[in-house]
Amino acid sequence: QPIYLKDYTPPAYLVDDVHLTFQLSPNTTRVISRVRFCKNPDAASAEFFLHGEDLRLMWAKIDGVSIAPDVTEKGLTCDVPANAFTWEAEVEIDPANNTALEGLYMSNGMYCTQCEAEGFRKITYFPDRPDVMAVYTVRIESDLPVLLSNGNPTVSGAGFAEWHDPWPKPSYLFALVAGDLIPTSDQFTTASGKDVALNIYARKGDETKCAYALDALKRSMTWDENVYGREYDLDIFNIVAVDDFNAGAMENKGLNIFNSAYVLASPETATDANFESIEAVIAHEYFHNWTGNRITCRDWFQLCLKEGLTVFRDQQFTGDMRSKAVKRIDDAVALRAYQFREDNGPLAHPVRPESFVEINNFYTATVYEKGAEVIGMLKRLVGDEKYAEALDLYFTRHDGDAATIEDWLAVFEDVTGRDMTQFKRWYTQAGTPRITVTDSFENGTYTLKLTQETRPTPGQPDKKPQVIPVAIGLLAPDGTEVVPTTMLELTEDAQSFTFEGLTEKPVPSILRDFSAPVIINHDQDTKTRAFLLAHDTDPFNRWEAGHALATEVVMRMVTDDVAPDPAFLDGLAAVMRDDNLDPAFRARIVGEMPRQDDIAQRLFEQGRTPDPMAIYRTFETLKVQIALHLQDITPRIYAAMQVPGSYSPAADAAGKRSLGNIALSLMSRLDGGKQAAQQYATADNMTQQLAALSALLKQGGGADQRADFFQQWRHEKLVMDKWFAVQVGTAAPEDAAATVKSLTKHPLFDMRNPNRFRAVLGAFSGNAAGFHMADGSGYNLLADWLIKLDPVNPQTAARMTTAFDSWKRYDANRQAHMVAALQRILKNPEISGDVAEMITRLLDSA
Ligand code: ARG
Ligand code: ZN
Repeated sequence: QPIYLKDYTPPAYLVDDVHLTFQLSPNTTRVISRVRFCKNPDAASAEFFLHGEDLRLMWAKIDGVSIAPDVTEKGLTCDVPANAFTWEAEVEIDPANNTALEGLYMSNGMYCTQCEAEGFRKITYFPDRPDVMAVYTVRIESDLPVLLSNGNPTVSGAGFAEWHDPWPKPSYLFALVAGDLIPTSDQFTTASGKDVALNIYARKGDETKCAYALDALKRSMTWDENVYGREYDLDIFNIVAVDDFNAGAMENKGLNIFNSAYVLASPETATDANFESIEAVIAHEYFHNWTGNRITCRDWFQLCLKEGLTVFRDQQFTGDMRSKAVKRIDDAVALRAYQFREDNGPLAHPVRPESFVEINNFYTATVYEKGAEVIGMLKRLVGDEKYAEALDLYFTRHDGDAATIEDWLAVFEDVTGRDMTQFKRWYTQAGTPRITVTDSFENGTYTLKLTQETRPTPGQPDKKPQVIPVAIGLLAPDGTEVVPTTMLELTEDAQSFTFEGLTEKPVPSILRDFSAPVIINHDQDTKTRAFLLAHDTDPFNRWEAGHALATEVVMRMVTDDVAPDPAFLDGLAAVMRDDNLDPAFRARIVGEMPRQDDIAQRLFEQGRTPDPMAIYRTFETLKVQIALHLQDITPRIYAAMQVPGSYSPAADAAGKRSLGNIALSLMSRLDGGKQAAQQYATADNMTQQLAALSALLKQGGGADQRADFFQQWRHEKLVMDKWFAVQVGTAAPEDAAATVKSLTKHPLFDMRNPNRFRAVLGAFSGNAAGFHMADGSGYNLLADWLIKLDPVNPQTAARMTTAFDSWKRYDANRQAHMVAALQRILKNPEISGDVAEMITRLLDSA
């Protein structure tokens, strides 16, 4: 039952306005709707269909006359007048038993909603598709003290509140919240002088943890005015923190709803990484107000239109707030870990998919993060000025529209005159392009030859060449830069680029700033990589050289059983010692080892069968070797990176703590955890407390601290998530499954809370060697839990099946175990459509 992009047809009926009344009650909430419809002149069909799922229809009327529609599990149909008419209905729903967390549900006694993508149909009968936009008026009846919906508040009194949202919006942006919540408030004046009231609502006890998010919101609002010329457009902007939430957050118009993990922070309870992701997600959801809400998507195939662009914007914002270089490294690391992996396996799909069964399964790294890379490439190709012009045109031309990728690319064509036909392949063709680099030097002329190739992906056997911006620079052997960063445009299967007037053969620095989401194959020797690590003027490629060295070292350790190359260890020492380098950047070079999963993929691509346990042991050996080699420097660095005074989440202090914690983890390999125990005892912030606990557990110790941490934090849900996750993450492979088994029996384990479930089972699939134990115990354990979770929360269960997406890499024995686990999930009589689609895709490539 997949649906296809090519089958898109406009809606038969359009909606002018919507009136909703909610009579809230945990098991019997009544939703009374009054919707003004008119026939869409652009639609061929006149069939009247309203989506609706899990609703109890009490009555329905058209123009005041009772009717009896044909109701199915998916919605209803009925005869309607030829011209405009008013639909009215009352339905009953059961928010308290809505464990799928889609539609209207309850979390800790509060009511909240999640409608994207297709949750509104679980609230009332409606054309639940993004190209039907309407003005909403909402009345909430409840005795709870805080009653919120989209737009501006109008009237309220004892037991009710009304809201009106003047901006037409699709149903997926509808939101409602009711609860006993405490606001943390501020005010913002827009560039044109409009006052906006800002509130972040949280449960009692959590209101002390909203200040950072509020500050991030104000900085986001200012940034969007300064960089994109976008102002906020309502009198009020509300954010609500919710403990039970499938995703990170949701950009509902004027009423963003957040997973509390991306709002609540205090120095004692949140790590530096948490502060940074709060800042990024607050910005992301705020930026959606223009890229997503004012301009939305015609249909869900266009999801990347809003998500790719909004991720790109939040990445720019973080780069401006913190370090651009470090942000680019972090984004590249995440892209390779999640998106390249997706592109390499059975779940590969284009940034704009052609078909889907369940759209919730396409909120992926490809749509989001590769979608953002595509925007970044456009900007590199047309230049900053034309990019700004194109965005201005996009906002004026499409304000109020439900738009498509074609509309988006047309804006760039119109502003630059450039034909975007080939570039569009980035949206339609799945798979990561691989670029092979060779070079030569003759008579002062240096020639770089680049070839590109994209491997087949499911449903796409033949790939065409992409337009790839490859930023390069050339360095002389003495380390000076002879050609500064230059953008090459690779458009053919193979192309040569020449550089003249050079006195000696330069060292190329390829794909500077990670200018495209591609894999570079470039046979550079260890010496050249060490040279680039020491001299590259591009910070991303300097990091990349270190990363490539580390990868090469690990690969040789695994395949040839040799000791780590001293050139690599010396390179790390030099970086560690270089006080001119930003600590955060040093931390990325010294601490950011290749992932075990990446090494497994590389071995597989070389025609070898990866052994997860052997890879794990190699990393353990390597880390001890690094610790030994750097043992004279680490205590000094550790001491130098202690930040005096009270905690600040700002980038420079966070960078120091991250380098300090890398030094700590290296020291812990040699001192039996002495320094970590001391740090644990004296830490006044979660970043250092958790790093110390993690280092201790990793050495097989830390039992007292583990118990102490529990006692200290057992009433803080988000901190308890860390307590669960760190135990699974640091468990030795042979103990990981047993750790999971005992933690899932813990009284605070609750599979209905997605954060808690992910803290345990998500951390388990991240413990590569533990998950891939040769006897299949890891696969079976995860399968058992996904089978249990699926009837409760299909979205989160489906998402976590991706742990199996690399099954084809492994030996026949592991493959058989993984296929058996997947088939067992598929045979579950209670299987959801979400999970069924995922398992089918995972197995289809067999
Ligand atoms: N639009 C939200 C965001 O990116 C995410 C919604 C997730 N929804 C889902 N069905 N997975 O900010
Ligand atoms: Zn988003």
